[in-house]
Amino acid sequence: MYANMKKEFLKDIKSTADILIPKDPLERVIGHDEIIRFVKIAAKQRRNLLLVGPPGIGKSLIAQAISVHLSKPHEEITVVHNPERPERPFVEVKNRSEIESEMEDLQRAEGDVVTPQEVPELVAERLGFRCPNCESYSSAYQSICPKCGADKYSHINARRKHLGDLLGMFEMDNEPVNVPQDRVTTTRMHQGREEVVIYERVDGDKIKILDQHALEKRREMVEEKPKNIIVPLQRKNFIQATGASETELLGDVRHDPYGGHPDLGTQPYERVVPGAIHEAHEGVLFIDEIVHIAPLQRYILSAMQDKYFPIVGRNPQSAGSSVKVEDVPCDFIFVGACNIRDLHYILPPLRSRIQGEGYEILMRTTMQDTEENQAKMAQFVAQEIEMDGKIPHATLNAVELIMDESRKRAHIIDDQKDSLTLRLRDMGGLVRMAGDMAVMEGSKLIEARHIKFAVKNAISIEDQILERYQSFEQAIEKDTSSSQKMHSGSKGIPNDHVDRSYL
Ligand SMILES: Nc1ncnc2c1ncn2[C@@H]1O[C@H](COP(=O)(O)OP(=O)(O)O)[C@@H](O)[C@H]1O
Ligand SMILES: [Mg+2]
Repeated sequence: MYANMKKEFLKDIKSTADILIPKDPLERVIGHDEIIRFVKIAAKQRRNLLLVGPPGIGKSLIAQAISVHLSKPHEEITVVHNPERPERPFVEVKNRSEIESEMEDLQRAEGDVVTPQEVPELVAERLGFRCPNCESYSSAYQSICPKCGADKYSHINARRKHLGDLLGMFEMDNEPVNVPQDRVTTTRMHQGREEVVIYERVDGDKIKILDQHALEKRREMVEEKPKNIIVPLQRKNFIQATGASETELLGDVRHDPYGGHPDLGTQPYERVVPGAIHEAHEGVLFIDEIVHIAPLQRYILSAMQDKYFPIVGRNPQSAGSSVKVEDVPCDFIFVGACNIRDLHYILPPLRSRIQGEGYEILMRTTMQDTEENQAKMAQFVAQEIEMDGKIPHATLNAVELIMDESRKRAHIIDDQKDSLTLRLRDMGGLVRMAGDMAVMEGSKLIEARHIKFAVKNAISIEDQILERYQSFEQAIEKDTSSSQKMHSGSKGIPNDHVDRSYL
């Protein structure tokens, strides 16, 4: 049994519904077993990767799958206000256990929670728990005592009238009480000193006690340094920065029309925005088609070398341009993808960085036509169907036809005999087109005839052009409008602009 199937042999399955799709996204990658081994190493040892090969063979799929094999992020990155020099905010890195112990502190500062019976009787009355008439306890929301039938509040009011504020311990308004108070402020003697204690009704039937210590802690936390969490602990660990601009990749400081004026404006630390390199801290930074960010490669290289990269305002016209945050961590696993043709556009020092601390991998475009790989191909069909979600499963016959097409493509496109193509994005397109046909027909499964239809019709635009016009030159000639010809005398776009590199 090669793929995970309900049957031992591929020939015994009824449809792709009999194939179990692996949960691990790396196991869903077909035909690149050796690469997967490196990928697992890269995830464990935090190495970089360069995946080289034509479009649609799973480079993005692999890059994404790596992040699933990484451990959760441990650090949170915060930009903190610098009162002496607001345009030079500090960076603060906290790890998970520090953040957790702070949370505990905060909880402690929240005060003890007790039952109504545990607080002074007068407090329990004011909060609506205790009946001043019969001294029994009941819910604060019952204004009539369920035990004696007395109106709890009229009794409080009566007592206040008779005794004045007997103990003088409440901060008194002289309004009559007719609803329970949410909080009562009073004082108590503690170690020879009078201190304020606040009792707060919480969760309906509990009371929170905030003593001097808790109050101070609370105030301290509220008044804590102003800060801006730019890379939170809870985050995704796969960042794709394909086609990113300089600011998206490296971060920025937003403009403030009030120039960070202390009263009107937004402080610089609040305007700091992380780049993809910072968001990918502890995770994967994936750059598809590296050549598209050609001039930014040197920044990526420097970020990889230092594992820190400053965030500065990148628009010289903006009020952000005077702001700089030094030493913002950016310790990411770099995964780049490109096709063979573009390999020489990658900055040589970036290449050698990858070679020195990672793996450069040339991806295969075909795999051997073995029983094992046929089962994998069937698994691929099942995956595409499941991912699409809108098309039915395929019969065994249909899968066999897909296998035939895959052999044909391996032969025609990659000149490989006895092989199956790994240019699987296109094969996925075929499955979807066949699936749509099945849906339109109301068929419960994708049948052989749907695949035949798709094979015939899923032709690339280039092939369609060749079929209709016999050559690209003729197509372009006919495509150029007559008026264009008359005015410019142009013969149309030179044909080397047509990308046939996929062939
Ligand atoms: N090796 C593969 N295994 C499984 N599915 C694949 C594979 N290669 C491509 N696919 C399918 O084609 C789609 C596009 O692949 P992708 O990873 O984006 O290709 P690339 O990044 O190389 O251009 C994937 O989402 C997947 O559905
Ligand atoms: Mg891709």
